[in-house]
Amino acid sequence: MKAVEAKGFKIPLVGLGTWTLHGRDCARLVEQAIRVGYRHIDTAQMYDNERAVGEGVRASGKRSEVIVTTKIQPQWLAPQELERSVKESLAHLRLDVIDLLLIHWPNPRVPLSETLGAMARMKQAGYVKAIGVSNFTVALLDQANKVTSEPLVCNQVEYHPYLDQDKVIAACRKHGMALVAYSPIARAQAKGDDLLARIGEAHKKSAAQICLRWLIQQGVAVIPRTARIERLEENLNIFDFALSDGEMKEIAGLVRRGGRIVDWSWSPQWD
Ligand SMILES: NC(=O)c1ccc[n+]([C@@H]2O[C@H](COP(=O)([O-])OP(=O)(O)OC[C@H]3O[C@@H](n4cnc5c(N)ncnc54)[C@H](OP(=O)(O)O)[C@@H]3O)[C@@H](O)[C@H]2O)c1
Repeated sequence: MKAVEAKGFKIPLVGLGTWTLHGRDCARLVEQAIRVGYRHIDTAQMYDNERAVGEGVRASGKRSEVIVTTKIQPQWLAPQELERSVKESLAHLRLDVIDLLLIHWPNPRVPLSETLGAMARMKQAGYVKAIGVSNFTVALLDQANKVTSEPLVCNQVEYHPYLDQDKVIAACRKHGMALVAYSPIARAQAKGDDLLARIGEAHKKSAAQICLRWLIQQGVAVIPRTARIERLEENLNIFDFALSDGEMKEIAGLVRRGGRIVDWSWSPQWD
């Protein structure tokens, strides 16, 4: 599996998203994903599926080859809460270590320096291999990189052809961080897209595969979610063709106002 490297940490270009997956179905899907070649599994404390994800990873027999990402809930970003919740995540996952630990959403009520300090301590104590952030704006990326004592390897954000993320991508590059795209097939909207389907016909690929290829061809890692075992391979099978410069530009033209799908209004707000 090809990977994007940031500060010495490698993130596979295609991983599996697990939001909404639970219980035995989740464990079975994670195990099968690893069997067919996935090497990055994305979970979060908020998804309430760390137990099942860990079970699937262990059942695969390939634990040492797989990166497991989990994310700290915004209400647990104060140092003591963070440390408690990370230990709890590890207990749920029943794994030796969390490979990549992210701040799920920023929380303006907790100073970033305190959160990142606690994350650095968890890394130094061996609970975590690498740390990063999610849903960080350009300004927050600048601030975080100024105060962190440990390298931040990625920013996980919503990204697909309908949403312009040029500024965040540029900020990640400036800070040597990888960008990991969540909702990379726009929560299935890409599958019904005429342009993506037309380009797909030329390459004998589905619209979803064209969408994912467009992202990885920019050096962005993706974590598409599927609950269907047959789609695991489809979403992985995007390394045997390339989009032309013209096709890349055409797809970039799908960007639209209000292209964001994930609602931020529930998250802790700045006063
Ligand atoms: N950091 C954050 O704040 C954050 C926020 C949102 C998501 N995430 C992470 O990112 C992951 C992915 O994002 P997402 O779940 O929002 O959306 P997504 O991966 O863009 O879309 C998932 C949807 O697409 C469908 N799908 C998957 N593969 C397909 C294919 N080849 N053809 C047609 N349809 C396909 C799935 O249906 P089927 O199940 O029927 O295949 C599902 O309905 C999440 O699971 C989660 O791990 C992180």
